[in-house]
Amino acid sequence: EQINKGNYEHYMQKEIHEQPESLKTTMRGRLIRGGSCKAKTVLLGGLKDHLKTIRRSRRIVFIGCGTSYNAALAARPILEELSGIPVTMEIASDLLDRQGPIYREDTAVFVSQSGETADTLLALEYALDNGALCVGITNTVGSAIARHTHCGVHINAGCEIGVASTKAYTSQIVVMAMLALAIGGDTISNQARREAIIDGLFDLPNKVREVLKLDQEMKDLASLLIAEQSLLVFGRGYNYATSLEGALKVKEVALMHSEGILAGEMKHGPLALVDETLPIVVIATRDTCFSKQQSVIQQLHARKGRLIVVCSKGDAAAVSSGGSCRVIEVPQVEDCLQPVVNIIPLQLLAYHLTVLRGFNVDQPRNLAKSVTTQ
Ligand code: G6P
Repeated sequence: EQINKGNYEHYMQKEIHEQPESLKTTMRGRLIRGGSCKAKTVLLGGLKDHLKTIRRSRRIVFIGCGTSYNAALAARPILEELSGIPVTMEIASDLLDRQGPIYREDTAVFVSQSGETADTLLALEYALDNGALCVGITNTVGSAIARHTHCGVHINAGCEIGVASTKAYTSQIVVMAMLALAIGGDTISNQARREAIIDGLFDLPNKVREVLKLDQEMKDLASLLIAEQSLLVFGRGYNYATSLEGALKVKEVALMHSEGILAGEMKHGPLALVDETLPIVVIATRDTCFSKQQSVIQQLHARKGRLIVVCSKGDAAAVSSGGSCRVIEVPQVEDCLQPVVNIIPLQLLAYHLTVLRGFNVDQPRNLAKSVTTQ
């Protein structure tokens, strides 16, 4: 029942639109609001016997490929903030190429929708050989990664058929935000922050439902971009991952060159590409990086860049002063959860671009849902 297209034309479209529900399923039974005197908290059953060891680890290493790597990158800042443990990132194939150092004192977190990606699985074997505590975050019960890790969390997003991962990405971020809450100490000083994140998680499906209303707006935008050769996506902080993932969606399904760029690196090369023709998406929702993103927008305006700005509701004037640009307003949520909301207009854009360009949405050429060979 879960694997038919229902009223949708494509699985990718269905999976984008079912995110309010898939996120609810991901969180079901794991967020506890508590009674009048009990604090709000998170329960991740699959980790409970290992939390002490994780808290004592010298480093947390996220390991994954493609969209799963991007989801881990989106969660990295909140994990660092709440746990105080250094968090490093590894693309599975690159870790294997370098035979990079992994220690007994490390917690290695393997993120994979399918749980079967060959590079991630080989990196898991490598980390097991090196004595690290290995945690799996997958969408597939009984998958190789779920079986071979010491412990883990299933994201419970439901079966994902479209080759381009959409609902698994947002559920992965939510699981990793919950992981950060579970690992992070429940101290007086961070109580308000923790509660704000938990409240934000409860409300997230509603916010996602709201942002999905941008569907027609993204279709209109797609029709303007249909013949472009290239699209840049600038993000930073919590939304550096959004820029990489938005660009990945556009390239994998719409077959358009697209590049996610860390906005802080703009002056060190990408600025040379800016002219009146190249479309550039800038993610500039409200968080501690907002004023820096405003300055990036000013610099792009000064070079007559063709901008599409994703901003928080009510910020259209603040981001478009100094030049003309198209603005996409999204609901604001707790900063660390904003990547879940911000990716959705870009998923919709990639979807509509693909349909309008006449390409295969669910089976892009040359790609596989799960890459089980090296
Ligand atoms: C393939 C898929 C991607 C996916 C990546 C990692 O490249 O086409 O959509 O992000 O593998 O897959 P995993 O199952 O490990 O998350």
